[in-house]
Amino acid sequence: MTDYAGRLRLGVNIDHVATLRNARGGDLPDPVRAAQLAQEAGADGITAHLREDRRHIIDSDIDRLMETLRVPLNFEMAATDEMQKIALRHKPHAVCIVPEKREERTTEGGLEVAREENKLAGYIAPLREAGCRVSIFIGADERQITAAHRIGAQVIELHTGAYCDAHAEGDFETRDRELEMMREMSAYAHSLGLEVHAGHGLNYDTVAPVAAFPEVVELNIGHFLIGESVFRGLGPAIAEMRRLMDAARV
Ligand code: PXP
Repeated sequence: MTDYAGRLRLGVNIDHVATLRNARGGDLPDPVRAAQLAQEAGADGITAHLREDRRHIIDSDIDRLMETLRVPLNFEMAATDEMQKIALRHKPHAVCIVPEKREERTTEGGLEVAREENKLAGYIAPLREAGCRVSIFIGADERQITAAHRIGAQVIELHTGAYCDAHAEGDFETRDRELEMMREMSAYAHSLGLEVHAGHGLNYDTVAPVAAFPEVVELNIGHFLIGESVFRGLGPAIAEMRRLMDAARV
């Protein structure tokens, strides 16, 4: 038995409750209420991405999450000066640095760390000094993981999007290759002393193989859970994800 084979944490990403709210303007549905419900339903943490263009989560959501949450907030952000200032003001439990392109529909790939090592090392240092756990959203790529370790990140989050897309498209060869890369790279990251998380695009069909990696200690899941909550309610949607994660872990 390895020392890291504990209960896998589930971080619920509430961005798309805010997407729905913003589609009409006004205050409803309230992503902070969703965060509270998720917390009651057994979420181990809440994830929220304050994008530069504020297309879903807005600054006052972060203010209210910091004021009201009992579970840790994982604050996703691009490596910009503005976001660093906001993170340093709030000092959330975790900061996850993600690449951001204005024209993208969602976060398409992992961060390019290797080419930006010096800049990123300087960028994350004050966040670490402020007590935030710094996570880097990254592809399953040895060069990028090594660089993430070198710049002083404590955590990497593996981007599961390509694996999930391949599954949805029925391209099982690519899916299995992506999965194998993630399996190898989560072991490699763990061997460097990095904490390993994973997320993006996961649903009930794709979660189990990733949840089964012993080095992965946290999954961050949003879009699917918020969509599924229309049909079952947020609590039951989260409970089913929790059940599948726990079943994959034994
Ligand atoms: N992890 C990270 C770093 C993300 O950027 C996102 C999407 O915001 C997620 C997890 C959750 O992805 P999804 O909403 O597709 O479950």
